[in-house]
Amino acid sequence: MANLGVDFAGLKLKNPVLPAAGPPVKDATAILAAARGGAGGIVTKTISVVAADVPKPNMAEIRGGFLNTELWSELPPEQWLETEYALARQSGLTTIVSLGYRPEEIRELARKVRPFADALELSTHYVGTDLSPIVKALKAAKDEVDVPVFMKLSPHVPDIKMVARALEDAGADGLVLINSFGPVMGINIETGLPLMGSKEGYGWLSGTAIKPLTLRFVYDAASVVKIPIFAVGGISTGRDAIEMIMAGAAAVQVCTAAILNGPTIYGKIAREMDDWLDAHGYESLQEIRGLAHRRAAQRSFRTHVVAPTIYEEKCTACGLCRVCPYGAITVEKVVAINLDLCAGCGLCVSRCRFGALELKV
Ligand SMILES: Cc1cc2nc3c(=O)[nH]c(=O)nc-3n(C[C@H](O)[C@H](O)[C@H](O)COP(=O)(O)O)c2cc1C
Repeated sequence: MANLGVDFAGLKLKNPVLPAAGPPVKDATAILAAARGGAGGIVTKTISVVAADVPKPNMAEIRGGFLNTELWSELPPEQWLETEYALARQSGLTTIVSLGYRPEEIRELARKVRPFADALELSTHYVGTDLSPIVKALKAAKDEVDVPVFMKLSPHVPDIKMVARALEDAGADGLVLINSFGPVMGINIETGLPLMGSKEGYGWLSGTAIKPLTLRFVYDAASVVKIPIFAVGGISTGRDAIEMIMAGAAAVQVCTAAILNGPTIYGKIAREMDDWLDAHGYESLQEIRGLAHRRAAQRSFRTHVVAPTIYEEKCTACGLCRVCPYGAITVEKVVAINLDLCAGCGLCVSRCRFGALELKV
């Protein structure tokens, strides 16, 4: 068994898979279910100075992704402070309390939640793309409390490297990348109605569809900061989580997959990570953290064609690789590549499910 424990900015996480702020941590009952489901720590649903007035309907599964317009907690902050946080502490897990949004709101809430928080996570989702209120919110929290403060960024941030650096310089103890993407839309073609009940019909995209965006944000931020990063967005399997760690994340958070599969998903992802590490001979996550940066640095940029190597013994002749846009692939008993036609694009390798094709570095 590999060592899955994580030290995240001084916080001890039992394993690297936490819930992200959202319905699966919407109150103490849900939080305790997440803990029983194997979460390595807890992030609580974002609260603000007043309860959110959430439009209905506000969640929909769409092909490859998920839409929501859920805003922040519908419970008033008083209920969290009087009941939910204290009950949630019974999980015994490291607890990160999520707060939103403006500096004056953060100042008001940070000290009140401190008795229940091992760290704070500040959502910047509704404060626009300007850096100034984001940095001011961070400073307001740092003035009020002595626990680590993590900044959660949305993918509308225009220059993640610049913002990540600025937040590290301003004292952020960690980054959480990313919130949902948008605004976006879906329409029910039977009724003609937008899927989301917000005034404009807009919502925010999460789930599998945004995983490549998450990965790019994490990869870019990890290339310029030393503070640890939570990857969040599109993670539903151990392999997804391993990819995020290779991009430079120290741990991951999961929201959509927990909505769709229930709270046992956290433990399942952690076990799948463990299995993958064991199967590949790694003893800890540390060994693969940021690996993609090191491997990419070894690869030279090239434009000349290198055709995939074929491992005939692994080919099942399933034909998935036949999509070749250059007509270079034929599959009879096994796959064959016409080297005069192959453009070295790599598509066939990405389609092969059996490891029968490989693009050598
Ligand atoms: C229904 C729903 C509610 C959410 N509520 C919050 C929230 O209160 N605070 C927050 O920071 N992010 C919130 N998010 C964003 C998630 O925490 C997460 O950043 C995003 O969904 C991407 O991760 P995923 O693909 O695993 O869902 C919400 C997402 C969904 C789908």
